[in-house]
Amino acid sequence: MTKKMWGGRFTESVAAEVEAYTASVGFDRLLYRQDITGSKAHAAMLVKAGVLTADEAQKIREGLDTILQEIESGALSWRDDLEDVHMNIEHRLTELLGPLGRKLHTGRSRNDQVNLDFRLYVSSRLRQWRLLLSRLVKVLADRASQHVHTILPGYTHLQPAQPISLGHHLLAYAQMFRRDFDRAGDALARVEVSPLGAAALAGTTYALDPAMTAAEVGFQSHFANSLDAVSDRDYVLEATFVGSVIMAHLSRLCEEIILWANPNFGYVALPDAFATGSSIMPQKKNPDVAELMRGKTGRVYGDLMSLLTMVKGLPLAYNRDMQEDKEPFFDADATVSASVSIMADMMHAMIFRPENMGRAVQAGFLNATELADYLVTKGMPFREAHHVTGAVVAHCEKKGLGIEMLPFEELAEFSDLINEDVADILAYETAVARRTTPGGTAYQNVEKQISDIEMWLQALEDGGGSV
Ligand code: ARG
Repeated sequence: MTKKMWGGRFTESVAAEVEAYTASVGFDRLLYRQDITGSKAHAAMLVKAGVLTADEAQKIREGLDTILQEIESGALSWRDDLEDVHMNIEHRLTELLGPLGRKLHTGRSRNDQVNLDFRLYVSSRLRQWRLLLSRLVKVLADRASQHVHTILPGYTHLQPAQPISLGHHLLAYAQMFRRDFDRAGDALARVEVSPLGAAALAGTTYALDPAMTAAEVGFQSHFANSLDAVSDRDYVLEATFVGSVIMAHLSRLCEEIILWANPNFGYVALPDAFATGSSIMPQKKNPDVAELMRGKTGRVYGDLMSLLTMVKGLPLAYNRDMQEDKEPFFDADATVSASVSIMADMMHAMIFRPENMGRAVQAGFLNATELADYLVTKGMPFREAHHVTGAVVAHCEKKGLGIEMLPFEELAEFSDLINEDVADILAYETAVARRTTPGGTAYQNVEKQISDIEMWLQALEDGGGSV
């Protein structure tokens, strides 16, 4: 067993199973790029602090680039006995550069190092989520624009309520994912804070400049308190919460896809690429992708709960418990990224069945509110109008007819206020068209939502860096 890099005061070596228990390189090697970026920034700062010459820093940067290539080509063999990604890379640097490699860690601790690496990593993943979310919003807006005039029942309590535009329904999800996009962006302000210079916990005696390294790695700001810098994991909690809300939204859409694909609804047919068959029942086409996504939501919530529990009750400053921050986030990230991407593809390919939606609209007395409102405009108090309409619905139900199918004379018997002009009011298309509240389901308002989203997407594209 090799001597540990921190092993100066130790005489016995660590038990093999302890080594395996404490090593993190099996998972934190994912941070290699960020570790190298952080070390380059630190080397530049050491030049400014007079610890390294410009030439030494240059050699270190070249050594780190060599290691980057070795890692990416698979040439570097990761060693558990070197514990983590940081010490594996530093060890290799010392193999390449000799004693110069040992100078890099001056004025730095793994405590500030690991937090910088992970912040860089989380930041890049949040940016990737934003990219994936903007694509999902685009797909939903595109599908909505094809179905502004497709009418389906809108529900409350999953009971048929009022007719709405399918475009409007899809855009409700586009709005959710747009908020998620914003939430991920808001979190970046607290993720992109450099802890470098905090060293182990108290800062350092070297003339380091935290603002310089923050700028060097492209972060928005740097730490205000060195103890907080090495022990703050709020940003991981927050990113995983953002991921949890994304999954909550996805799982609601999944639930609708599952319901809509049921033949009793029949509002969608699943594209073959996103459905599976049954090994025993030949007629089946199962919404497994949507079900799995709904199920995976639980695992992301679990990741968030692991992280919250991990930080609970930790005294200042760094504690090794914090090494447990990585795997839950990696798991949440893999789940969120794949789910958002697959949902975009699935919605792009989704086959809508407007005829079945139309049939459902006619079967649910979805124009009852229209009749009540009509009576109100003719002077009847709303409570009375509600009562009269209820009687009409009961009558129609007995006869197995929609309100609009009732002969005019029969309908007129329920109130003197009912005139021939009621026919237009009872048409489902009219019910949708008349809901002109801004943000309501009226066709032109749905068009307006789509163009607002398209402008937003265009601005993102033009802005380039804003994602
Ligand atoms: N692998 C460790 C982690 O992820 C790095 C920091 C170790 N620091 C220490 N003082 N042992 O947290």
